[in-house]
Amino acid sequence: MRKPVMAGNWKMNKTRDEALEFIYAVSDKLPAQNQLDSIICAPAIILRDLVKRKGNSLKIGAQNVHFAESGAYTGEISPAMLSTTGVEYVIIGHSERRAYFNETDETVNLKIKAALANDLKPIICCGESLEERETGKTHEVLERQITKAFEGITSENLSNIIIAYEPIWAIGTGKVASDEMADEACGYIRSLIAKLYCSLCAEEIRILYGGSVSPKSVSGLMAQPNIDGGLVGGASLKSDSFIELCNKAV
Ligand code: PGA
Repeated sequence: MRKPVMAGNWKMNKTRDEALEFIYAVSDKLPAQNQLDSIICAPAIILRDLVKRKGNSLKIGAQNVHFAESGAYTGEISPAMLSTTGVEYVIIGHSERRAYFNETDETVNLKIKAALANDLKPIICCGESLEERETGKTHEVLERQITKAFEGITSENLSNIIIAYEPIWAIGTGKVASDEMADEACGYIRSLIAKLYCSLCAEEIRILYGGSVSPKSVSGLMAQPNIDGGLVGGASLKSDSFIELCNKAV
């Protein structure tokens, strides 16, 4: 049995005060830790504050990390720096970072390795564009992204890794992939993990769907055999909506 996950991706939203207000509003209304991993991935500057005040049921994640240990990378944050904030997770390879900040399959792989080496659990994002879907390239894109992401990663690390399938055309557009479409892609990713590692590894790894998930669509998605949870942007910004998402996910 894979434990479900509900991960909020706040992106570049919320000041410290807004974030703390949210944390206090949700802290005693989330399912217990043994039922669900409820995660908020917040901007780096407020992570330490959130970790200190998150309560028992919430986990905190970052949205990005650099792959180098240290050096001349103005404005970047190293995995060790992130680790000292006490965060447990880090999103790696979000399509917005690939599109606007030149992240490639190669840097995604380097970041995953650096995160794991610093006790951070990667939430690895993958997914196709609308054009790639419409020209029948979804599997090809997922195979390339997943194969490169996992290059040099041993099977012992898999229990610390979450994969998020996020079709780019569904992010922030209100267009959720149909339950079947999302499940098919997550099932395909699972088959890639079976090919790269083993069938038990594929059965055990957690795969989330992301892209316009809302309290309305979450139950249908969660009922799919290959979907273990959601990576949620817009609908994770309001405390009531996040509470509803988490409670519907168990
Ligand atoms: P969305 O974002 O839920 O607002 O579509 C999801 C994501 O980008 O992770």
